[in-house]
Amino acid sequence: MPHLHIESFKPLTLPTRCGDVEFLFQADYKDDKEGALIATRYKGREFFLVHKKGDTKELLKSDKITRPSPNFILKHALLAYAECSGSVVLDSNVDNAPENTHLKTHDALKTIQFFADNFPREQEVRIEVGFGSARHLLHQAAANPEVLFIGLEIHKPSIEQALKQIVIQNLTNIMILDYDARLFLEFVPSNIVGKIYVHFPVPWDKKPHRRVISEDFLRESERVLCVDGTLELRTDSENYYRFALETFSSPAISRFDVRKNQEIAIVSKYEDRWKKMEKNIYDVTFTCETESPEPDMSGNFAFSSTPIATDALGRLSKETYKQEWGFIHVERIFRVGEDGGMLRLAMGSFDRPESTYVLVENGSARYFPSLPVRTSANLKAHILLDELLHG
Ligand SMILES: C[S@@+](CC[C@H](N)C(=O)[O-])C[C@H]1O[C@@H](n2cnc3c(N)ncnc32)[C@H](O)[C@@H]1O
Repeated sequence: MPHLHIESFKPLTLPTRCGDVEFLFQADYKDDKEGALIATRYKGREFFLVHKKGDTKELLKSDKITRPSPNFILKHALLAYAECSGSVVLDSNVDNAPENTHLKTHDALKTIQFFADNFPREQEVRIEVGFGSARHLLHQAAANPEVLFIGLEIHKPSIEQALKQIVIQNLTNIMILDYDARLFLEFVPSNIVGKIYVHFPVPWDKKPHRRVISEDFLRESERVLCVDGTLELRTDSENYYRFALETFSSPAISRFDVRKNQEIAIVSKYEDRWKKMEKNIYDVTFTCETESPEPDMSGNFAFSSTPIATDALGRLSKETYKQEWGFIHVERIFRVGEDGGMLRLAMGSFDRPESTYVLVENGSARYFPSLPVRTSANLKAHILLDELLHG
């Protein structure tokens, strides 16, 4: 993760602009020993830089929740902050390399907002979950130019690698999204997806709740798949295979099919490794048989206009509010300016919580830098949060 060690942190008077980077406001940890978040805008992306205090040197790095992609954006903002604040950089892993032109010139990298605003539906859609080295995704896209492939991945180096290859191979039918697949399906209109590939997902044997496959995921897959569309799980993990069989067996209407050691056209890096070790490979394929209605996703993320009391944030401190649809957990409270504040929250469904920030200034609240993902659990969590903030 790009970072700079600096001699001492020198706050800027905000808002301010340093060349082409804007620094908007600073949110200080309540505990003075910790440091601050600096809201930053560059190339249309808004995110936080993090200042962490230390005994001998201080750290400037990215915030995990809002971290921008590609990495170039973050590196440029870190260097801009250090330069404008006159910070002495002691050591760093941030080079001053120019923007990677592969990333600059293609438009395959999409944001979740792109899909939320207007989900592409002119052609058949296929989704690959956790594409890793992207061998399978690139192969499928080249072999099926009439199909739109959406590749989901949360590992940034894999995304950058895939983006380079998309430009090199001149593929125009792939969209890449840096997003958790478990949240993504709620954005997809019903009955438009031909295939969902889940190849060699992380088995998460010790934390099964983090697995991509779950009853919720299967229910959502069934909704977005067209009739005869398939969800294809391929795994080398006997545990995951058994877990998938159980999960796929639970909804009454599902139809699935199981194969062992089936050859497919393209072998991924993981598959290569398992084959050399002579491990068994399992395919569990679910076929959708029914048309589904569109989901009811009414509601929005606006806060009510009644002024929020100044002690409202203090009252929420480190609490967890559980409901049967999900929860809100207040992880952190920050100070912003004289009498503003900011919350860092985990909220939404138990399986797929979302981390987000809520800025409260002059008695009104807003999410920063972006609205939560429009899932039914997040919409419910928002209503609860609005009530909590307004006492
Ligand atoms: C074991 S690798 C397999 C990669 C590739 N499918 C292959 O067969 O080589 C699993 C990949 O899934 C990604 N991943 C894990 N959880 C994910 C999630 N919830 N949403 C999207 N991608 C995820 C990981 O970052 C990793 O690249």
